[in-house]
Amino acid sequence: MRLDKFLCETLGVTRTQASRVLKSESVTVDGNVIKSGAVKVSEEAEIEFEGRLLTLSGPRYFMMHKPAGVVCSHEDAFNPTVFVLLDEVNGEKLHIAGRLDADTTGLLLLTDDGQWSHRITSPKHQCTKTYRVWLADPIAADTASQFEQGVMLRGEKQVTLPAKLEQVDDYEALLTIHEGKYHQVKRMFAAVGNKVEALHRESVGALELDETLEPGEYRPLTDEEIALLR
Ligand code: URA
Repeated sequence: MRLDKFLCETLGVTRTQASRVLKSESVTVDGNVIKSGAVKVSEEAEIEFEGRLLTLSGPRYFMMHKPAGVVCSHEDAFNPTVFVLLDEVNGEKLHIAGRLDADTTGLLLLTDDGQWSHRITSPKHQCTKTYRVWLADPIAADTASQFEQGVMLRGEKQVTLPAKLEQVDDYEALLTIHEGKYHQVKRMFAAVGNKVEALHRESVGALELDETLEPGEYRPLTDEEIALLR
């Protein structure tokens, strides 16, 4: 494939813009600056733009350790979005598979594979999500059984699906739910008279947050991790 065509596809630019990019000497092929769009590049070639590797190889998948204070949307008038933390070519083409509230931390998945994210977010698939929850008041003795039976959230017509609560201490628990209603965990605890003080998502399905990621950091998923959620 010609280098300029490769740049059009990976950077989402026109041929004219691709030749401007090449003239700016910001593209390397196997470490060498290349300025001609006519150069043929092989599938094995390592092509970088401004030091970032470009790949044609289909959908992308990332896990981020979402920090508090950033919002899960492409634009927000008041707060930074998770997309400002992404240093990816065409990062704005990624979408979030299962949003978190601005004050919630933990495992956030980003992809441009709509089918894959649908399996995570669609109510039909009931993909599990596990949250570590810190509460304002001691967890009542009957909270686990209430969550197991399902609780009625304000504004809903049906009780929540059975959820598993594992108490860590009086004020801390792990909650595993099979759905993703708006503010679900906060509303579940509100329904039993408690208040969530802090919330952290530890896992989605069998995929756990990589503990080596600091808040705000992210990395690509491995093939095995991607397969866990297929
Ligand atoms: N439930 C909530 O209440 N907030 C989140 O961010 C995720 C689940």
